Amino acid sequence: MSHKRVAILISGGGSNMVSLVESMTGDHPARPCLVLSNIASAGGLTKAAAAGIPTAVVDHKPFGKDRAAFEAELVKPILDAGADIVCLAGFMRVLTDGFVSQFQGRMLNIHPSLLPKYTGLNTHARALEAGDRQHGCTVHEVTAVLDDGPILGQARVDVAANDTPETLAAKVLVEEHKLYPAVLRRYAAGDRTPVILG
Ligand code: GAR
Repeated sequence: MSHKRVAILISGGGSNMVSLVESMTGDHPARPCLVLSNIASAGGLTKAAAAGIPTAVVDHKPFGKDRAAFEAELVKPILDAGADIVCLAGFMRVLTDGFVSQFQGRMLNIHPSLLPKYTGLNTHARALEAGDRQHGCTVHEVTAVLDDGPILGQARVDVAANDTPETLAAKVLVEEHKLYPAVLRRYAAGDRTPVILG
């Protein structure tokens, strides 16, 4: 069986990246081919290298507001790695239509809210402010609209009365680590039925 090749894009600690990488063994239909970051000091890069996965960095800062120029560089290692699927895993740059369309139908993102609620940033604080009883995370296919696109899976957590944005983020992250690998496994096998956890 030839495995699907997965490039994972990160900006930070990469805990979701690690859970994806750890899942891609045995009869899993995919394997990691690249971990790519826009931040040279991203902790996830060291973890990926330790796991024997090729890594690359494309710093966004020299490109200023020119997203297209940044993306023209960002795409190169992904194409060089022969990626079939791109997983955004805590990748904190907004991507343009042009970049997204190159990976239409084969790029996934994980977002820390129950979409369509709370696109963008500070999702945990916003769920708390709204008095939500439940919160969670979503994996979706990436389209040109931020945090939009067909939902491929969701996991829920109960919000406790004493939760803070930090405790809630930690609870949601535990679920992210279950949800993203479950969705990727299905997706790589060509099954887009949503995964519902919790
Ligand atoms: C995760 O909670 C992920 O859902 C979130 O960033 C965190 C990355 O953690 N992503 C976004 O907010 C995307 N807009 P990690 O680096 O440990 O995987």
